[in-house]
Amino acid sequence: MKLTHLTSLFVCVLFGCNDAPSPPTEQKKHASIATETDTETGKDMYMLYCAQCHGPTGDGKGFIELDRPARSFIDGGFSFGNTVHAISKTTSSGIPGTPMPPFADILNAEQIERIAKHVRSFAPTLKEATASETEMVVGESPLVVRGMIPPVQDGEKLHPRGLVIGNPDGFSYEYRADDVRLLAIRQGRFISREDWGDRGGSPLKLLGKITVLVQGGDPDSMFKTTDGEHLRAQLKATSTVSEYGTVRYILLNESGEVFATISEYCKPTTGARALVEQQFAIEALRPFTMTPLRGTVMNGDQLVSTGISNRTVIHATKGSE
Ligand code: HEC
Repeated sequence: MKLTHLTSLFVCVLFGCNDAPSPPTEQKKHASIATETDTETGKDMYMLYCAQCHGPTGDGKGFIELDRPARSFIDGGFSFGNTVHAISKTTSSGIPGTPMPPFADILNAEQIERIAKHVRSFAPTLKEATASETEMVVGESPLVVRGMIPPVQDGEKLHPRGLVIGNPDGFSYEYRADDVRLLAIRQGRFISREDWGDRGGSPLKLLGKITVLVQGGDPDSMFKTTDGEHLRAQLKATSTVSEYGTVRYILLNESGEVFATISEYCKPTTGARALVEQQFAIEALRPFTMTPLRGTVMNGDQLVSTGISNRTVIHATKGSE
């Protein structure tokens, strides 16, 4: 009963209800919203949450002075995709390393979509960047793609065995898969699989904008024995059942002894300035050490004792490196 009532209220807010029961004050508020169109409501929320930085007309001239200017939506300044869907994702998760905050904890998906429609209406003549046949678009659950990873930047290595995880929040994570480690974090569109016609012979095309380049894109391994011997991370499985794609691997020394099983995933932190955190769930059979990389901070001891424990590595973003 309660649910039905809530649902009908929800529908009223969305589409307007003429036969709504005579309103006490609380419902009057909804009724007035209901008479407005979707974009007007989106506009109200835009004025409230976005205009101070992006400007009331979407020209990027807000009242707040920023160390990095906000985008002008009129000129189509969308580097993370210009569809309502893409704008919603950016609004929800923010842009790490910039003043653009995440709104996921403040607004619900419905509200964000309405604001995104309003944002989209600032650039009415801009053509939507629609996905080509080879582009993979991440939907409700994460996607994992294996393949050749092109050098993250000029002068870096190509990784013939690579792995890319795309999460529904619009972030994607590039991994080396031969000795598992995170190389780079991107935000925006996911991947174009141009190697399909080519029997896997050419590298994947990564479409997102780099947010974090882990140790310049060629990170050391974080894992060593207590004697300082390198531990290789051998990929065991990937999982896409939760909202964040997960990789699982075991740590082996040169003689093939297993030191630990680790599951890891990454997610942007919420907060005024979003950063990205890499979460490790560790089951150690032997003690080993984990050394944080340049540009990162690790929560927890570097010495990992036998048993079950967790570590979190926080990545400083490109903007602040
Ligand atoms: C505190 C200031 C601030 C507020 C508030 C803010 N933004 Fe932003 N926003 C920025 C900045 C700065 C950028 C540019 C970041 C960069 O350099 O890439 C940005 C970029 C964007 C982008 C461009 C993404 C792309 O594809 O390049 C979108 C879309 C966006 N904001 C939407 C919103 C919406 C919607 C709201 C309100 C719900 C909002 N912003 C509120 C500062 C802000």
